[in-house]
Amino acid sequence: MARMPYVAAIDQGTTSSRCIVFDEAGGIAAVARREHRQRYPRPGWVEHDAAEIWADVRAVVDEATAGYDVAALGITNQRETTVVWDRATGEPVHNAIVWQDTRTEPILRTLADREDEIRRITGLPLATYFAGPKLRWLLDNVDGLRDRARRGDVLFGTVDSWLIWNLTGRHVTDVTNASRTLLMDLRTLDWSPDLLDAFGIPAAMLPEIRPSAEVYGTVRGGRMDGVPVAGALGDQQAALFGQACFQPGEGKCTYGTGSFLLVNTGATPVVSRHGLLTTVGYQVGSQAPAYALEGAIAVTGALVQWLRDNLGLISGADEIEALAASVDDNGGCYIVPAFSGLFAPHWRGDARGVIAGLTGYITKAHLARAALEASAWQTREVVEAMDADTDVALRRLRVDGGMTVNNLLMQCLSDVLDLPVVRPRVTETTCLGAAYAAGLAVGFWPDLDALRAHWRPDAQWEPAADKTRRDREWTQWRKAVARTLDWV
Ligand code: G3P
Repeated sequence: MARMPYVAAIDQGTTSSRCIVFDEAGGIAAVARREHRQRYPRPGWVEHDAAEIWADVRAVVDEATAGYDVAALGITNQRETTVVWDRATGEPVHNAIVWQDTRTEPILRTLADREDEIRRITGLPLATYFAGPKLRWLLDNVDGLRDRARRGDVLFGTVDSWLIWNLTGRHVTDVTNASRTLLMDLRTLDWSPDLLDAFGIPAAMLPEIRPSAEVYGTVRGGRMDGVPVAGALGDQQAALFGQACFQPGEGKCTYGTGSFLLVNTGATPVVSRHGLLTTVGYQVGSQAPAYALEGAIAVTGALVQWLRDNLGLISGADEIEALAASVDDNGGCYIVPAFSGLFAPHWRGDARGVIAGLTGYITKAHLARAALEASAWQTREVVEAMDADTDVALRRLRVDGGMTVNNLLMQCLSDVLDLPVVRPRVTETTCLGAAYAAGLAVGFWPDLDALRAHWRPDAQWEPAADKTRRDREWTQWRKAVARTLDWV
């Protein structure tokens, strides 16, 4: 059927791959989704099959775009997850090592004396979270891989790069994803020779770093044959872009498996002194990049899944709101879900989770409430770090992601942060951001102002908590966090 053109975006996430087709007003026309398998070969290790991911992506793209005239395709992806594949056959040489995986702790210890230099160059702390150490682990542990890498016979990429290579045959990565490797110089936007040397990474296996919005190539084969692949951003940067946070001081938090608060800091990178990440927010074509400060929280929605899957307290994630709302407060109970250590602002891979304040009075409803509040308290930790690092005060927080359907959590967040919390009408901001980047690159949308005009609020929450009680609970939360840090 003949229709007006659309823009499609792939969101290759930690648990699923989706494709969404957007119309010119940024409205959703079609969606397709597939879940892929999580592999946990040892405690602390998390892997994905990159070939399974590519097959899923192909399937969801074909399904979602059937019948639509697509002008461009954008990509957004779980960041830091590391893939190495054979240049000739396209076969991955190992399972992808996922961002949550903590196996690289020993590698990081060998680089501890260079931590300050590494942070100065990359804006990142030395942590297992990032791609560079994972790549180093593969080079050390897959037989013969280093020699093949030196010859350029195998290629490295984060998931954006893996998908662009499969779609178009080009080996490139976007600058936001590259900024999560511990290998990119934040100022030159290129691989740092010093860091490649420090991590022992052969340059021949690395993709070329490109802006987030430009035509990387065209799709080869399949239903989308010839469509330009024209945008790529790591998923959290894509959400910043999809939420139209184009001005310094504008920020968003996406509540999914983990939660990621990013604030646009403008044309100059702000180096954090309080445990945040300095990262590239986006780069449109040859324009200067916008930098961002990020508070990455490893576990928020994953705690709700844990209550469902490991404890059986609820049978579906959507039950948690009613259960938590059946009590007036947390009964004095706090859950700190340090399942992969603690990310921002602590960066302690060795932290382990606690449930503090247990008494015989606590019911599963209190635990449900404490689990939701954990998302809010962790957000407050990163907002406080943000306030300490910059003079661009956050005046309100734009939110998105699966957990934001939970109105109790949204009110709790507003109370805990003492800030208005706003949810937009289109909450698929990750895909939307990738679609925006691709659409800008092909002239489907003219400029950022046109994108900003699409943003509409759906609901807003105002702080309503009693200040004395909030301060008391904040103190209790921080005591519970301290327990996770002195556990090992
Ligand atoms: O940095 C990790 C992040 O990009 C993962 O996001 O939404 O796939 O869990 P998500």
